[in-house]
Parts: sequence; C-alpha cells; structure tokens
Amino acid sequence: MRQYHIPVMLKESVQALQLQPYGVYVDATAGGGGHTREILRSEPTVQVYAFDRDEEALAETKKNCNQYANRLHLIKDNFANLRTRLALEKVKLIDGILFDLGVSSHQIDSSERGFSFRMEGNLDMRMDASQTKTASDIVNKFPYEELVRIFRDYGEEREATNIAKAIVSYRLNKKIKTTEELADIIDKATYSRRKIKAKARIFQAIRIFLNRELESLETALKEAVDILKPGGRIAVISYHSLEDRLVKKFFKFEEKSCICPPNFPKCVCDKKSRLKILTKKPIIATQLEVESNSRARSAKLRIAEKKEL
Ligand SMILES: C[S@@+](CC[C@H](N)C(=O)[O-])C[C@H]1O[C@@H](n2cnc3c(N)ncnc32)[C@H](O)[C@@H]1O
Repeated sequence: MRQYHIPVMLKESVQALQLQPYGVYVDATAGGGGHTREILRSEPTVQVYAFDRDEEALAETKKNCNQYANRLHLIKDNFANLRTRLALEKVKLIDGILFDLGVSSHQIDSSERGFSFRMEGNLDMRMDASQTKTASDIVNKFPYEELVRIFRDYGEEREATNIAKAIVSYRLNKKIKTTEELADIIDKATYSRRKIKAKARIFQAIRIFLNRELESLETALKEAVDILKPGGRIAVISYHSLEDRLVKKFFKFEEKSCICPPNFPKCVCDKKSRLKILTKKPIIATQLEVESNSRARSAKLRIAEKKEL
C-alpha cells in the first residue's frame, strides 16, 4: 500500500523548533502525523497539540503516534482558530509551532477528493469535508470575472481569461462534473507547451480560494506570534510562491520596530519588533531528499524566533 505521506524536511524543521523539556508545541498541519511523531519522539517530555481540518488526517496522526498518545492532543479545526482552540484546552502560551502547508500526498492521491488533475474524480477539493461549498460550485456557478480573478490571484495563470471563457462557454450546455472534464477544458484553452502548467495552476487556484488557505495562514501566523513565549520558534514549510511570499512578508513586518513613513522626523508608530528572522534565505531540501521525495522539490522552510518584549 502507498505511504500516506512522506514528511518533508523532517529533521530540519523539528530541529528548527529547538525543543525544550516539558515544552508545549503545536503542529498546525498534522497530516499523516510525520512531524508530530518526530517532535514527540525527539523530546520525551513535550506535549503536542496537532491541528488538521481533515478528519481523515487526524485519524492517521492518531494511528501513527499511537505510542505517544498520552502527550498528543488532536484538534479538528482550521489553524486560523489557533488561539481560541488552545484556550479551550487551557493552553495560553506555547514554546513552538510548525506549519507544513498545503495538502498531503494522501489527499492528492484520493481521486474522489478531486485535488488532482491527473486523476478522474469529483470536483470537490474541500480540505474539510464538513464544509458545504465545493470546487464544483466555483467552476459551475461563479461569474466569468470572478473566475478570472481567482485564476490570476491564486494561480498566477497568464491564460486566465481564455480558460475562464472556455469554462463559461462549456457550462452553457453541460454541467462540469469531474476533474477530467475540467482538465480537458483547460487543455483545449491553452497553448500546447503550457498545458500541464496551466492545469496545475488552475487546480491550485481553485483549491486555495475554496479553502481560504492564504487568509487562514495570515490569521494563524499573527495568533501564533501572540501566543509564542519569548525564545519560542515558528517554522513554516511552504510549497508555492504565494504562501512563501506571505510568510516572508509577515516575518519581515514582525521583525520591524518602526513602520512610520521614511520622511517622518521621528518614530510615532509605537510598533514593537516581535520576531527575529533566523533564515534570511529559506532552507530548501537536500538533493538526496528531493531524489527520494519529489514533493520536497518546491519546499521552502522559514524560521523565526519570538523576541523578549
Ligand atoms: C502537507 S500536509 C502535512 C503533512 C504532515 N506534516 C506530515 O508529515 O504528515 C498538510 C496538512 O495540513 C492540513 N491543513 C491545510 N490547511 C489547514 C488549515 N488551514 N487548518 C488546519 N489544517 C490544514 C491539510 O488538511 C493536510 O492534512
């Protein structure tokens, strides 16, 4: 049977957290539990609060971390609700947090979930199966202009207008039901050399928009810094430029001690520098890891530390 998910940059990201004895850590994206397990294994006194929006992922994490069950707390929720959910568990401050963004290999490989343009499946793409809106609603009901905006903003797709036109004209006659149908429409609307790239970008755009991935990340990063103890670490592994840019910009903003316009004679903003960036350039996977796990190819790890305030 195929492995649920091979964790990416496992050693690098867990080392980045600098685990402290009796520390409280959050794995914001439990997935198959690869990183959660490594945290629990590496430091036998820590507690881990593992979030995932996907029920199946949490079940897999529970199974994978069975031997550490007494130190593992599973939370089925969006990491955007980090602070509230931890408060319900009576956790106000944490020693470190890890985000390993996007979808797991298991989610991509489950054709019925519709994340992949390479497999026939329903146009679903929900990370949280209890959510009502699906990819089908976007593709079949959203107006042309909105589709163009989604494909541009979340897929950075330069043939966004052609693809949106093709979708709108196809659905005049017939509902778009499957991933294969959508992939076919994109194929016909794009130049031959770009077909695969365009399909990947459009599927990515729909997924990011549908699951509000960037909005959730922005909220969670802010909350994470609020509840990190001084000296605590935040580590984020991202897989595409939209995520990585957001993380980089957020870290930079949190490192700044002044955001006054440059022409102001003196600082009036009262901004505090809350983070020290530890990775001026992101850490990338080793060649060896990329050879054994192609998912690691696009991964970028950024790390920051909470300052004493
Ligand atoms: C790349 S996988 C994590 C894999 C995990 N680190 C491992 O080693 O097994 C990303 C996981 O994050 C979850 N996820 C993505 N966005 C989320 C969000 N906003 N809130 C909670 N979970 C999220 C997905 O459902 C998926 O299971």
